[in-house]
Amino acid sequence: MVAYSSIYPPESPCVVPAIGVFDSGVGGLSVLRHIREQLPGERLLYFADSLNAPYGPKSQAFIIERSREISRFLIGHGAKAIVVACNTATAAAIQTLRSELDIPIIGMEPAVKPAAAATRSGVVGVLATTGTLKSAQFAALLAHYGKNIKVVTQACLGLVECIERGDLDGKATRALVAEYVAPLIDVGADTIVLGCTHYPFVKPLIAEIAGPGVVLIDTGEAVARQVRHRLEEAGLLAVSGTPGIVRAWTNSPAGNAKQLIRLLHGGDIEVEAIGGQSLSSV
Ligand code: DGL
Repeated sequence: MVAYSSIYPPESPCVVPAIGVFDSGVGGLSVLRHIREQLPGERLLYFADSLNAPYGPKSQAFIIERSREISRFLIGHGAKAIVVACNTATAAAIQTLRSELDIPIIGMEPAVKPAAAATRSGVVGVLATTGTLKSAQFAALLAHYGKNIKVVTQACLGLVECIERGDLDGKATRALVAEYVAPLIDVGADTIVLGCTHYPFVKPLIAEIAGPGVVLIDTGEAVARQVRHRLEEAGLLAVSGTPGIVRAWTNSPAGNAKQLIRLLHGGDIEVEAIGGQSLSSV
């Protein structure tokens, strides 16, 4: 167990404690915006591991190593809590992070529980990465909440890459969304779970292809409520009434990486592109 205080002494005068958020890339920004709305006084840090996106097809050992390194980086910049804003990294690494770090670690899981409550047809579709769908956590979620409904899962290969390129509505993205959503509608799904934090950025497209009457559920807002709750419980909520700043780092090799983060975040955000530098040197 690595004590938060041993990485960054909390009494240090130069750093305001923050909430650290990370994802395999830009997807976690869909969670960050809810955290910002619900906790406007908090300083927020975001790390986009775009150089290594997508995490979906990668090994658990690789994802654990990335999650560990990024969490320590964020703690080094003042994180008092970590939000794993990635379903795939949560499934692969949250247990390891919780066993190694002594600060609140909040993760994501596909919203099967609310979907089971919302469906009228009894058929729920889940869009997610292969990593999430084959994880033990997802199997446990289905065993618990999927008993009385039919759950149809769909791995969305290639969709994270489109969103990482900033293609939210182009030909390639449309073709993939149609390929993945149509089979769910064909089997009667009236509720679709967006089980990857990148997918809320193509929600309008998914809604258009799914058609009217299909409910789309993502977990960003619920996770932000959970972050507030966990900070309150731990006595870690920010006391200042001043708006918190948002600082982000990306290791994307793309020339438009900073602009994409600003566009998807949709508010004030200070972004640093670090290229392939090792996190210990940033
Ligand atoms: N945003 C990540 C998730 O929620 C995307 C995973 C990936 O990079 O494949 O699963």
